[in-house]
Amino acid sequence: MENHNVAVIGSGYVGLVTGICLAKFGNNITCADINKNKIDSLSGGRIPFYEPHLEKILHQHSDNIQFSTDLEKTIQKNDYIFIAVDTPENENGSANLQSIFDVAKKIGQHLNQHKVVVIKSTVPAGTHETVKNIISKYLSKDLTFDIVSNPEFLREGHAVGDFLYPDKIIIGSNNPKAIEKMLDLYQPLDCKNPLLMDNVSAEIAKYACNSMLANRISFINEITHITEKLGGKIKNVQKALASDHRIGPHFLNPGIGYGGSCFPKDVKALIHTAEAYNCGSSLLKAIDKTNQLQPQLFLKKVLSYFNSNLKNKKIAIWGASYKPETSDIRNAPALKIIEALLSYGAQIHVYDPKALQALRNLFQQQIHYADNKLSPLNNADALMILTEWKEFQTVQDLPENIYPKVIFDGRYCLPTGTRNLYSNRKQLQIDTPKSYNALNVHK
Ligand SMILES: NC(=O)c1ccc[n+]([C@@H]2O[C@H](COP(=O)([O-])OP(=O)(O)OC[C@H]3O[C@@H](n4cnc5c(N)ncnc54)[C@H](O)[C@@H]3O)[C@@H](O)[C@H]2O)c1
Repeated sequence: MENHNVAVIGSGYVGLVTGICLAKFGNNITCADINKNKIDSLSGGRIPFYEPHLEKILHQHSDNIQFSTDLEKTIQKNDYIFIAVDTPENENGSANLQSIFDVAKKIGQHLNQHKVVVIKSTVPAGTHETVKNIISKYLSKDLTFDIVSNPEFLREGHAVGDFLYPDKIIIGSNNPKAIEKMLDLYQPLDCKNPLLMDNVSAEIAKYACNSMLANRISFINEITHITEKLGGKIKNVQKALASDHRIGPHFLNPGIGYGGSCFPKDVKALIHTAEAYNCGSSLLKAIDKTNQLQPQLFLKKVLSYFNSNLKNKKIAIWGASYKPETSDIRNAPALKIIEALLSYGAQIHVYDPKALQALRNLFQQQIHYADNKLSPLNNADALMILTEWKEFQTVQDLPENIYPKVIFDGRYCLPTGTRNLYSNRKQLQIDTPKSYNALNVHK
C-alpha cells in the first residue's frame, strides 16, 4: 500500500482526528493551524481537548505526523490538502466561511504542483465553486488542482471509531480521477459504502443528515411535553417509537435540546440556503424553534418548583458538556440554564468529568467548580442533571446525608424506578404535585 503526503489545515476536532487516523495507516501527515498555542501543545504530544483514544494513537504514530503553523510549507510539500477549519454561524444564521476562504487564498498563493484539495469542513452548497475560484485567482503559474467535497460525519466522543469504521464516506467530485485518488487514500478504512456523487449533493448531504438528526430530537421533545401534560410517561412512548423498525431507536432521547458546534449552526445554515434560493424551510425553522425552547421549558419547571424564588438557592449541577464523552461546551444547553439560574441569584456548583476547564474559562468566578460529583450535593436545594454522563445515570450510590431535596433530570437519564427509591428516603417529605410528576422531576 502506497503512503501519501497529506496536509490537514485546521487542527480542531475534525482536523486532528482526520490527521491522526490517516497517520495510523502510515501516511505522512502535517496538521497545520493558525493557533500557535494549539500547535505547540500538539507538538508536545498533548491534544487540547478530550477525545477518547486520540492521544494514544498520536503517541503510537508520532513518527508519521508533524504539526506546523507554516501554511506555505505545509501546502507545498503535500499532495492532498484537507481543509478542516471551523465554519461558525453568522448573526443571520448563514455559515461564516471566512476561514475557508483564507485557506483557499493560501492554497492559491502557494500551490507548486497538482494537488487534491479536500473540503472536510461543513459548507453550504456551492462553496466548492467559490473555493475553486479563489484558488484560481491567486495561482501565479498555470497549475491545476482538484476540489473534492468530503464532509465529515464523526461524533465527538466516538470520533476515532467513527473515522476508522464509518458507515458511509461521501466523496463529491465531478472528476473521476480525483474520486479515484480519494478512494486510494481511504482504502484502509473499514467502509463498505463509499458514496460517490457530485460536489453540490455532497455539500447538501451533510446538512441533510444533521438536520434529520436534529429533527428527531426536536420531535421527541415536543412529544414529551404533550405526553407529560396528559399524564403519560415518555419512556413508554419512546419504547414504542424505537421498536418500530421503520423508525428505530436513535436520537429519540428527550431532554433539554441539542447543542454542540454542529446541529444548531447547521440547521440554521440550511434554513439560510433554502431562503436564499426561495425554497421552503418551514420544517427546518420549526426544528430550530422547538430546540431553542427546551432550556426555557426546563427553567419553567425549576421556577415553578421554587415559586420563582431562586435567590441564594444552592443548585448542584451534574454535567455541562453538550453531550457525554466530550469536553466540548460549544452551544451546550447547560450554558443557557446556568446563565438563567445566575440571573435569578442562585448559587451554582458544577461538576463535569471533562468540561470544567472550558466552563472556568467562560464563567470564571461566577460559579463554583467541583472535582467530584458528591461535593456539590452538600446542603444543595436541588440537583440538576444537564449532561447524561454514565456516572450520573444512577443516584442509588449516593450517601443518605447528601441526598438532594429534588432532582431535575434534564436528560431523562435516571432509571424509571428512581422516584420510588427516592420516596423511601426519610428527608423526602415534600408533596409531589401532579405537575411535577409530569415534568420528570424526581423528589
Ligand atoms: N466537531 C464535530 O463534531 C464536527 C463533525 C463533523 C463536521 N464538523 C465540521 O468540521 C469543521 C471543523 O469543525 P471542528 O469542530 O473541528 O472545529 P474547531 O473549531 O475544533 O477547529 C477548527 C480549527 O481551524 C483553525 N483555523 C481557523 N482558521 C484557520 C486558518 N485560516 N488557517 C489554519 N487554521 C485555521 C482554528 O484555529 C481551529 O483550531 C466545521 O465545519 C464543522 O462544522 C465538525
